Amino acid sequence: MAVDVTKVSELGVEPGTLPDTMAAWVIREERFGEPRDAFQLEEIEVPEPGAYEVIVRVMAAGVNYNNVWAALGEPVSVMRYGDHPEWGHHIGGSDASGIVWKVGAGVTRWKPGDEVVIHCNMASYEDKEVHGLDPLAAPSQMIWGYETTWGSFAQFTKVQAQQLLPKPRSLAWDEAASYGLVYFTAFRMLMTQCKLQPGQRVLVWGAAGGLGVFATQLCKVAGAHAVGVVSSPEKGELVERLGAVGYIDRTEFPGMMRAGDETPEEERARFKVAREFSKRVKEILGDSPDVVFEHVGRATFPTSVFIVKPFGKVVICAGTTGYNLDFDVRYLWMRQKQIIGSHFANAYECHKANELIESGQIRPVLWKTLGFDGVPEAHQLMRDNRHLGKIAILVGADEEGQGRTEDGPGAIHAEVGA
Ligand SMILES: NC(=O)c1ccc[n+]([C@@H]2O[C@H](COP(=O)([O-])OP(=O)(O)OC[C@H]3O[C@@H](n4cnc5c(N)ncnc54)[C@H](OP(=O)(O)O)[C@@H]3O)[C@@H](O)[C@H]2O)c1
Repeated sequence: MAVDVTKVSELGVEPGTLPDTMAAWVIREERFGEPRDAFQLEEIEVPEPGAYEVIVRVMAAGVNYNNVWAALGEPVSVMRYGDHPEWGHHIGGSDASGIVWKVGAGVTRWKPGDEVVIHCNMASYEDKEVHGLDPLAAPSQMIWGYETTWGSFAQFTKVQAQQLLPKPRSLAWDEAASYGLVYFTAFRMLMTQCKLQPGQRVLVWGAAGGLGVFATQLCKVAGAHAVGVVSSPEKGELVERLGAVGYIDRTEFPGMMRAGDETPEEERARFKVAREFSKRVKEILGDSPDVVFEHVGRATFPTSVFIVKPFGKVVICAGTTGYNLDFDVRYLWMRQKQIIGSHFANAYECHKANELIESGQIRPVLWKTLGFDGVPEAHQLMRDNRHLGKIAILVGADEEGQGRTEDGPGAIHAEVGA
């Protein structure tokens, strides 16, 4: 049945009652490919909440790179993981703001009508790691709306009660939906994993991207000095506005990116450019960075390991340009540097990070808010690196800016062209 996207903000039911079906953007294995084609609008049965689960009416959803991967079916098919085999579909979306609509057995802290944002880490409360180590270490750990279906690109989403956080009152629905996944990831990388200290120096790759805009702001809040790497002066201006002491346009250093399968001569030539880049970083920061914030992977990792200070840390959460990394390990052991892997954040970190948003110290950076029909286009823009900061999707809200219940600074709107 054709779904009318103009009607997604209308519901014929009150909190506590679910309709039979909902509109959802769905990825299926047979149409893996470019995001513009992989996402299709379908009418799907609304799930009931199980024990300790909550059904949230999605008011707005946030767009992340993970559902670019889900659409492509790379590097692995999400359909093999989590609850996908049970349901046979992937409804993506790992960020949302919304209204608690129905709660399952055992949920006591949330009730229908509560306004929330959602963090995307799921784990079984029966896993021992959840109760003494970290839910990120649990065998059941999964990212909601990526490794599971029932994500936020639909009128309703199904989550664990522990995923809910209070919606910051000064943010509109679209602003509140835009920041969770990347911001909470950046918070764990810098605050927990690197124990960022005032006065430290940080190099942030992709500083105008989703992770980067928050890494840059966190450095400022922590009293650390960030230099952001970007690919245009417009992005550089944004990064300085977010508190970076300076930026470097990586297009001025052609040949620095590792492409793989290099000859020894090509490797030497690349290394020469990396040295020049390193000099520029030191000029801006006053010294080599204590921390390098990595997610680009293959293209930049050799430079990251080379450039970080002796005893410094390269903290990494992704390999967008390739995950088989190749670097000169002598720079690591001789100078006693550390490489730290990091993945999303636990509920405690999410709550601590959310408090900085509630107090206006960290602000979402929203580039565009699109209607519900914009889900494929938003992911294609990300795929093609034609975006800045974050993109939000209106679902239950019918226009941007709705949903503020208190005055406050709101989001930074990144208006410069990408
Ligand atoms: N493990 C986790 O928990 C976790 C959480 C969040 C995201 N991620 C992953 O992290 C990656 C980045 O996510 P994001 O949301 O920040 O994406 P994003 O908004 O696309 O930002 C990434 C930035 O990286 C830069 N970049 C792209 N290609 C580059 C290259 N060849 N060399 C140097 N810089 C390059 C781009 O900036 P310029 O072009 O301006 O340099 C871009 O703005 C994705 O792979 C995502 O899946 C992982």
